Amino acid sequence: MSTRLIEVRGAVKTFALRRGGRRMTALDDVTVFLDRGETLGVVGESGSGKSTLGRAILRLIDLDSGSIRFEGAEIQAITQAEFRPLRAKLQMVFQNPATSFNPILTIEETLIDAMQLTPDLSRAEQRDRARQLLLDVELGDRFLHLYPHEMSGGQLQRAAVARALAPQPAMIFLDEPTAALDMSVRGQVLNMLRALQRKRDTAFMLVSHDLRVIRGAADRVVVMYMGQVVEEASRGALFERPLHPYTRALFSAVSAGPREHLKGEAVAASGPGCRLAGRCAFATGGCRDPQPLTEIEPGRRVRCWRALDLPAFQKEHA
Ligand SMILES: Nc1ncnc2c1ncn2[C@@H]1O[C@H](COP(=O)(O)OP(=O)(O)OP(=O)(O)O)[C@@H](O)[C@H]1O
Ligand code: SF4
Ligand SMILES: [Mg+2]
Repeated sequence: MSTRLIEVRGAVKTFALRRGGRRMTALDDVTVFLDRGETLGVVGESGSGKSTLGRAILRLIDLDSGSIRFEGAEIQAITQAEFRPLRAKLQMVFQNPATSFNPILTIEETLIDAMQLTPDLSRAEQRDRARQLLLDVELGDRFLHLYPHEMSGGQLQRAAVARALAPQPAMIFLDEPTAALDMSVRGQVLNMLRALQRKRDTAFMLVSHDLRVIRGAADRVVVMYMGQVVEEASRGALFERPLHPYTRALFSAVSAGPREHLKGEAVAASGPGCRLAGRCAFATGGCRDPQPLTEIEPGRRVRCWRALDLPAFQKEHA
C-alpha cells in the first residue's frame, strides 16, 4: 500500500464577486500532499484559502480545475453519488463546536449517527464504540448522555473529534479546532490530538493561525498566502529556518528577534509576479516575474526567487 493518501495538484477555485462580474481566486494552483498517518499543518492569514482547500478535498465544493487524488484515485471529477462511499474516509472538524452539533441529540446519539457511514454494527457494538471513542478523546462515560448545551467548548470540541473519528476515516481536516477555545483548554485539546496521533494511523490536516499549535502537532507544514502555497517544509526545517519572506514575517511576529514587517494589507494581486511584492521588504525588479513553487532541497519548496540569498532570519527564539 502506497504511503500517499491525498494528492492535490494544480487546484484552482474562483468565486464570483458580488459586483462587476469579476471573480476572486481562492485557490491558485495549489499542490499539496498528505501521507498516511501524518499531520500536515496549514498556516496563513485570513482569506488565504485554507478552508477552501479543506472543503474541496471533502467535495463540499468543486474545483474550477486541478486534480485531487485519494488513495491514488481521482475524486475531483467523480459525481457526488460516486463520492458517497468515500465520505466516511474524509472527515472535518470545524472551528466552532457549538454550532456543529444537532442540539436535540445526545452525544451518544450523535456518535452513533456518525457511525452510519460505515458498515452495520449491532446496537450493543455501536454503544461500545461510542464509549471507546469518548475515551480516545479523553472524555468519560458520563458525557454519552449529555446534550451539546450541557458541555463546555473544550469538551464539545473533543466530542467533535470523536464524531469525526466515528466512521473510521483515513483523514480528518481540522479547521482551526482550537481557535474558539480558551488558552488553557487549547493546550489540553492539542495534547489530546497528539495522543490520538500516536494511537491511530489517521492522518490530519491541521489549520491554525497559531504557530505554537503547528509546532506542537504538525509533522510537515504548508504556508499559504492569497490562495497560493508559498512554502512547504518539515516542521523542524521550517521552525529552524523559515525562508519565504511571508513565513519569516509570521515567525517574526512571535519571536524575540528583530521584527520583519510586511507593508500594508493583503490586496488582490495584479500582474503575474509575486503576490507579496507590494508588501515585501526584500522585493526587487525580478519579483515582477511569476514565482513558481520551487523545490530547493528534498521535501522543501519555496515560492520566492530570493529565498536562499536573503539575510539569515534572526529568530532568537520562536
Ligand atoms: N462560498 C464563497 N463565496 C465567495 N467567496 C468565498 C466563498 N468561500 C470562500 N470565499 C473567499 O475565498 C477566500 C478564501 O477563503 P477561505 O475561507 O478559504 O480562507 P481561510 O484561509 O480559511 O480564512 P480564515 O483564516 O479567515 O478562515 C476568501 O477571500 C473568501 O472570502
Ligand atoms: S519573490 Fe520578491 S516580493 Fe516575492 S517574497 Fe520573494 S523577495 Fe519578496
Ligand atoms: Mg478558514
